[in-house]
Amino acid sequence: MEPLLSINQLNIQFKSDRGIAHVVRDVSFSIISGETFGLVGESGCGKSVTSRALMQLIPYPGKITGGRILFSQHQTPNASINITNASEKEMQQIRGQQIGMIFQEPDTALNPIMRVGDQISEAFFLQNKPHFNQRFISFLPDTLKHFLFSSKKAFWDKSIELLKSLDIPDPANVVSRYPHELSGGMKQRVLIAIALAGSPSLLISDEATSSLDVTVQSQIMRLLGQLKNKKLIQSILFITHDLGLASMFCDRLAVMYAGCMCEIGDVPDIFLKPFHPYTHALLETIPKKSFDTIMKPIPGQVPDLIRPSSGCRFYPRCTRSIDQCKTSLPELVPLNSTRMVACWNMRH
Ligand SMILES: Nc1ncnc2c1ncn2[C@@H]1O[C@H](COP(=O)(O)OP(=O)(O)OP(=O)(O)O)[C@@H](O)[C@H]1O
Ligand SMILES: [Mg+2]
Repeated sequence: MEPLLSINQLNIQFKSDRGIAHVVRDVSFSIISGETFGLVGESGCGKSVTSRALMQLIPYPGKITGGRILFSQHQTPNASINITNASEKEMQQIRGQQIGMIFQEPDTALNPIMRVGDQISEAFFLQNKPHFNQRFISFLPDTLKHFLFSSKKAFWDKSIELLKSLDIPDPANVVSRYPHELSGGMKQRVLIAIALAGSPSLLISDEATSSLDVTVQSQIMRLLGQLKNKKLIQSILFITHDLGLASMFCDRLAVMYAGCMCEIGDVPDIFLKPFHPYTHALLETIPKKSFDTIMKPIPGQVPDLIRPSSGCRFYPRCTRSIDQCKTSLPELVPLNSTRMVACWNMRH
């Protein structure tokens, strides 16, 4: 099947006074239409930076230094665009319209002084006028934005309709509220509405539920599942720390460590038989139900990405390393038709 998204040998670096940090190194994976693809790994391993590269939204001084991100566009079937060298004008048609993103912190992702309805209307406005300069809009004073979007009654009505379709109670009231008047779960639903306003085919959820309590978290997860079942979105890139959540929600899983891809496979296979020692160690950290089971944290620290050792980045913490691991970085290679692993030990 033709992938919706195909990332090939992606490299991202951040420059600083201390030197260059190679935060994403030769990362490759693809997402096919209809699947929920999970991206997991410890904090700082490069999940968010990788996902932001799909929108050309890497914060300064970060830079894509190599690789390709091919995205199959829904209005032009069989035509893929390489996001790494797309122009700003092309990106304006992709961001929001074809790839939507739900950010981690609803409190910082929403504008505190704009009504919720105006913020969803802005997403509809940009969908209708993709060539309208997004940067220009972001520099407008909020009062002017309010005038620009809320004067379009049609967008306001569509915002209410969208919130209603997300099972938000009393949507006509919610659109008139400011973010601080809403609960965390409600704010996250509003962010989902903003991400859906452009009818994207790929939805990126970057830790969208990690700041929520477990009840609201399961409601949001159910909502994302329904959106995919109703085919309102084709595929989801689901980024999380929570392996339990990934096991319930994702079809395939990719495990990242210190900017490198360790393992990719179907969720049941990865959970039943993790091949990479890092995946194995991560699974050991999942709390078990019985009280007499001790959780096993991974010993050691994530390496400094400015001066990593020449070998496998997990080598200093690995319990199954061999000599080769110290000197050369293993590539991700297929083990079988559904599984890819980057580990020297697996090849011996
Ligand atoms: N604006 C920035 N300037 C410098 N370095 C950055 C910046 N943003 C991210 N990085 C670095 O890039 C690396 C990857 O960060 P990223 O945010 O992608 O991690 P993550 O896997 O999403 O972590 P978390 O699970 O905590 O969200 C980290 O080493 C981080 O320090
Ligand atoms: Mg992150």
